[in-house]
Amino acid sequence: TGLNAAIRSKGKKYFGFCSDSNLINNGDNQAILKAEAGQLTGENSMKWESIQPNQGSYSWSGADTLVNFALNNNMIVRGHTFVWHQQIPQWLKNINNKQTLTSAIQSHIAAVAGRYKGKIYAWDVANEVFEDNGSRRSSVFSNVFNDWTFLDVAFNAAKAADPDAKLCLNDYNLDYSSSKLTNFVQLVKDLKSRNVPIDCVGTQSHLVVGNGAIPSYKSTLDSLATTNTEVQITELDIRTSSSPSQQQMNQQVTDYKTVATACMRTSSCSGITIWGVSDRDSWVPGVFNGEGYALLWDNNYRKKSAYQGFLDGINS
Ligand code: G3I
Repeated sequence: TGLNAAIRSKGKKYFGFCSDSNLINNGDNQAILKAEAGQLTGENSMKWESIQPNQGSYSWSGADTLVNFALNNNMIVRGHTFVWHQQIPQWLKNINNKQTLTSAIQSHIAAVAGRYKGKIYAWDVANEVFEDNGSRRSSVFSNVFNDWTFLDVAFNAAKAADPDAKLCLNDYNLDYSSSKLTNFVQLVKDLKSRNVPIDCVGTQSHLVVGNGAIPSYKSTLDSLATTNTEVQITELDIRTSSSPSQQQMNQQVTDYKTVATACMRTSSCSGITIWGVSDRDSWVPGVFNGEGYALLWDNNYRKKSAYQGFLDGINS
């Protein structure tokens, strides 16, 4: 029983959630993780500012808790994330020359991927490197390198530290912005053509109930599949009003079914991670005023009808 068992019985590798120690230690939440998940992603614990807040001093407790809980409960882990413009410490942002930044990236990845070597299914080596218009996003990494080769540094460092982990490029709004999707796909092809070790692409999939992008979600996965890498749905949620109408609730059921069905019909789509268990703990209301209701369990950890929609998609 459970979503992971359902998706595996149909030939996919995993279903899971993001989590971290606070939610792992919450009884209601933990029971759902154990019943439903075959995979966890650290929601915050593996980000650069969490692990290396001060240069050279590492803080492992949150990430260790996540990895140990997952492995003790037969779940695989997605590592999230190394090169990202957010949740990075000030000392890193202050670096302004390529040589220093290269060694900072290399030593961070060597330490983190090295510590969890053999325990991580896939790493989001880089996250959100595009703007929505498809241009290279400004960050300390892109600004100091002034080209894409910070990715070469990061992927090569991850490969050296954990040769068996799958190495992914992850981004959001690939389902909304055709120029972002086109340039993302091209970048992955370029990386492969210069032998940068990349194995997977992650489409975060922070979606909106009823949005016109959802009926064509399958075509987004098909475009991503042209990279000839594993395609992973990495941060799925489908938000709406925090107090939705019946019509919005019904549409959410349909939309969760549409996304799950699209993965099932795409052979390179290997698994799905939903970005949280309960609406109570979702990132959405804190960022989008008045929005929420994005997940499969309600504020009281009760299954919503969207759960059945998602399961129907898996079984479709
Ligand atoms: O750790 C501090 C804590 O010390 C402080 O008391 C508290 C007060 O606000 O903030 C805590 O930090 C928060 C952190 O989550 C840990 O809970 C930050 O304010 C908050 O901004 C942060 O939000 C996270 C967000 O990434 C940051 O960008 C969300 O939990 C997390 O769900 C979200 O996840 C991202 C993915 O990594 C990348 N894709 C988008 C996705 C949603 O934004």
